Amino acid sequence: MQLIFATNNPHKLFEVKSILSSNIKILSLKDINCTDEIPETADTLEGNALQKAHFIYDRYKQNCFADDTGLEIEALNGRPGVYSARYAGEGCNFDDNMNKVLNEMNGMLNRKASFRTVIALILNGKEYLFEGKVDGEILKEKKGIVGFGYDPIFQPAGFNKTFAEMATDEKNRISHRGRSIQKLVDFLKTINQ
Ligand code: IMP
Repeated sequence: MQLIFATNNPHKLFEVKSILSSNIKILSLKDINCTDEIPETADTLEGNALQKAHFIYDRYKQNCFADDTGLEIEALNGRPGVYSARYAGEGCNFDDNMNKVLNEMNGMLNRKASFRTVIALILNGKEYLFEGKVDGEILKEKKGIVGFGYDPIFQPAGFNKTFAEMATDEKNRISHRGRSIQKLVDFLKTINQ
């Protein structure tokens, strides 16, 4: 079986390929020479993942999947959520986004947050959604240097360190993305035996 993963992010590709069995071949956007700017204009993670997967499926008529991730903070009514990538505005970097969150949460006692990833798979024209979630809390300051995004301010429940203080393997085992990928992989195994 062959599937297009609507991404060019090498970390995501590596993660997916490392848990998929060898009889499922994954192609990236680069592999299919797709250089289009894929729209992500929905206001939910599910909507964005489906929008990206449909864009590829409609154009290339090949089975494919896409993902979308957000950090959902309870005391901020779920923000930054679907707007996680550009929370501090166009052209912002990871530090800008973390600083905005830390400022908005200044003095707040409820620090509960979750990372959530939604994968949308389109297989022979049919849609499937897979969700992975990890609960945790937002610290009052950044800790650690590994990883990316909001990793230095997110401490997963049951741990005494942030995602940015974990080895990649350790993070992938418990992360939102790792869990959603595992669900996709389990599903693919059932139909590809
Ligand atoms: P994407 O949908 O995977 O591109 O993620 C959107 C945004 O969420 C990224 O730009 C990051 O800011 C944030 N994000 C996604 N996954 C992670 C993660 O594992 N750790 C920290 N931040 C993340």
